Amino acid sequence: MTRVQARTEATLERLLPSPSIAPQRLHQAMRYAVLGGGKRIRPLLAFAAGEAAAGDPQRADPARLEVLACALECVHAYSLVHDDLPCMDDDVLRRGKPACHVEYDEATALLVGDSLQSFAFQLLSEHRVSEDPSVQVEMLKILAVACGSRGMAGGQAIDLASVGQTLTVPELEYMHIHKTGALIRASVALGARSTGTPVPAQLERLDHYAKCVGLAFQVVDDVLDQESSTATLGKTVGKDAANNKPTYVSALGLTRAKALAEELRRDAHDALSALGGAARRLADLADFIVLRKF
Ligand code: IPE
Ligand code: IPE
Ligand code: MG
Ligand code: MG
Ligand code: MG
Repeated sequence: MTRVQARTEATLERLLPSPSIAPQRLHQAMRYAVLGGGKRIRPLLAFAAGEAAAGDPQRADPARLEVLACALECVHAYSLVHDDLPCMDDDVLRRGKPACHVEYDEATALLVGDSLQSFAFQLLSEHRVSEDPSVQVEMLKILAVACGSRGMAGGQAIDLASVGQTLTVPELEYMHIHKTGALIRASVALGARSTGTPVPAQLERLDHYAKCVGLAFQVVDDVLDQESSTATLGKTVGKDAANNKPTYVSALGLTRAKALAEELRRDAHDALSALGGAARRLADLADFIVLRKF
């Protein structure tokens, strides 16, 4: 994990526009939002899926995976910058630092999000991320769909429309698999396609795994919002209750929400069972996602 995290950080540092290039303040704020923080779960999933699809870690292509890792983190960091804005969750702390709109200003935070999103697509189009150009176009589409109105942004719209409401468990699941699950699913899908030629049955198993860990990730995020501390998470705890958001914790209570995350962890492991030793890192990441404390 440390190796992939360091690699992602170094590549982001190198590829993001220099803070000395105009418009300097925007570039500084983009770097502020992306660099030096976060668990880098989406890059970790992309690297692990690349290894699983290649069948052997030695055969995965780290240069391609690095670019995917950066594109995924740029989209993710953009989603966090916008998520914290006063018109969304109105949060002032992110990754242990003032949120982007607090450190800079709201208009800059808006433009940081816009710029990071398009930078992700710039990266995926100017670097080779697959052997096959038609697969590369398919990969661009996977990311586009995952972050748009049928993916992350759509999930965020549902989240905002649900404030003050009681959602059923299927409705919560729908919200979570979009706002958080979609980008996690794309991380696995892109990692797997960057390397070798995965067969459809293999891609299906990986996708099933990704759906399980994507939902589990947000269930655990809901639990940590209730149970953890601001110092440990680096973001304000108790925010969901304060903002009147329906979550798995408000719907099921802590014990059943945790049991669901466990169930999803088992399903994720089952989905990997036919993939052999090359999927070991994905299995470890399912454990990390469910058992994490931050
Ligand atoms: C937080 O994501 C927002 C959600 C989608 C739940 P992460 O927990 O991956 O945040 P970082 O990147 O580690 O800060
Ligand atoms: C965020 O969900 C999902 C995103 C797409 C950013 P949350 O609003 O629960 O994320 P945190 O808790 O602020 O990180
Ligand atoms: Mg939110
Ligand atoms: Mg939030
Ligand atoms: Mg949360």
